[in-house]
Amino acid sequence: MKMDVLLGLQWGDEGKGKVVDYLAPKYDVVARFQGGPNAGHTLEFDGIKHVLHQIPSGIFRSNLRNIIGNGVVLDPVVMNKEIEGLKKFNIDFKENLFVSKKAAIILPTHKLLDAAYEKSKGDKKIGSTLKGIGPTYQDKIGRVGLRVGDILADDFKDRYNVLVERHLSILEYYKFDASELPALESTFFEAVEFFKNLNLVESEYEINEALEDGKKVLAEGAQGSLLDIDFGSYPYVTSSNTMTAGACNGLGVAPSRIGEVFGIFKAYCTRVGGGPFPTELFDADGEKMRKEGNEFGSTTGRPRRCGWIDLPALKYSIMINGVSQLFMMKVDVLNFFEEVKVCTHYQLMDGTKIDRFSLDKDGQEVEPVYKSMKGWNCDLLSVEKYEDFPVALKEYVTFLENELKTPIKMVSVGPDRKQTILK
Ligand code: GDP
Ligand code: IMO
Ligand code: MG
Repeated sequence: MKMDVLLGLQWGDEGKGKVVDYLAPKYDVVARFQGGPNAGHTLEFDGIKHVLHQIPSGIFRSNLRNIIGNGVVLDPVVMNKEIEGLKKFNIDFKENLFVSKKAAIILPTHKLLDAAYEKSKGDKKIGSTLKGIGPTYQDKIGRVGLRVGDILADDFKDRYNVLVERHLSILEYYKFDASELPALESTFFEAVEFFKNLNLVESEYEINEALEDGKKVLAEGAQGSLLDIDFGSYPYVTSSNTMTAGACNGLGVAPSRIGEVFGIFKAYCTRVGGGPFPTELFDADGEKMRKEGNEFGSTTGRPRRCGWIDLPALKYSIMINGVSQLFMMKVDVLNFFEEVKVCTHYQLMDGTKIDRFSLDKDGQEVEPVYKSMKGWNCDLLSVEKYEDFPVALKEYVTFLENELKTPIKMVSVGPDRKQTILK
């Protein structure tokens, strides 16, 4: 079997959690391959709303294995809390959650370093979620980090101390107050003890053996392609490869084993944190998107910046990921707009029009060029199948499909599992 990959094509929060949960019954395994507690994936079903940060979004479907791969950075404290928060659902974590021994561990000092680095950047700060993501990946690449497997070693505490000494000297350089560390450490070590009871595995074997056995595996991306460390709006990005290739690295699956690539995008666009966003709106339309779409971060609660859909950016994401199917989310948020705009090109300062995703560091270089389309201007409550959509919405979908040269196979019209229309 091949492994399917699902990932966000914009700046995150496209609705990946909802779609993974929706598709999960078709799969035997759901696996996270990068990111960590910076992610917030929301699932809504049976009147319940739940946000997952590190645990894969297949966790509410029984008979399915959820795997956290080697490419993820894990905070044991967040894990402890997440599992605690799921207690009421009677999930058997011994049966359906597996964690790679090669996944990197986020230490309390990684979170302090995240804050120190952000503070030192002043108004150039990334707008990090401050979950310790960047510093943990830095240590992984620097070959000094700790991994999940290390917590089982007798000398774990010694290895921990070596790394923390290093971190403290950096914090001292930044004159960052680390006085809360002892309190953070005591919670951390409690969580580490709890963590030892989880299924700690060599997940590359689990996944490849599942594929060999004819099982269906879905890789769940976090963040979005425009936050990718290599191809995103650098340096305003996260510290991992959020793209399809990241699923190979982050799970130990060969590129030749990749099957469908599901690209998730909003019918408009959002971004949380700093960095360029050419189609960002600062007017009543942007405000309306934020209100109708409840655009506030699932992890940090920060208001998300809102704007029109950006085709050069989407085309770029489709290209670098090899997207085979598109899923368009949050169409209902645009229900009551007289006019819906689509950015088809960017205009450079000298008047040249380009359709390449091309951003300078502060986004001043490009001006979006829009095509205006008629809004559908009605609710979609009675829609049960694609044919029921208003004509203007079908025209919007067809226009995007033609431009993006990729089929839109699913349209989401609300946050609930059931508010999903297949095409
Ligand atoms: P993720 O990080 O990609 O999983 O997305 P988030 O969960 O951070 O943000 C998506 C938000 O939109 C969540 O609050 C979802 O419940 C919600 N959502 C998902 N699909 C739809 C939709 O089609 N319509 C509306 N109105 N909300 C949606
Ligand atoms: P999900 O999986 C949206 C953003 C942060 C910041 C930048 C770097 O829910 O889509 P980091 O904490 O990684 O150092 O932050 O990336 N960011 C996200 N934005 N959704 C996410 O995840 C994000 N994870 C990180 O806001 O701009
Ligand atoms: Mg999110």
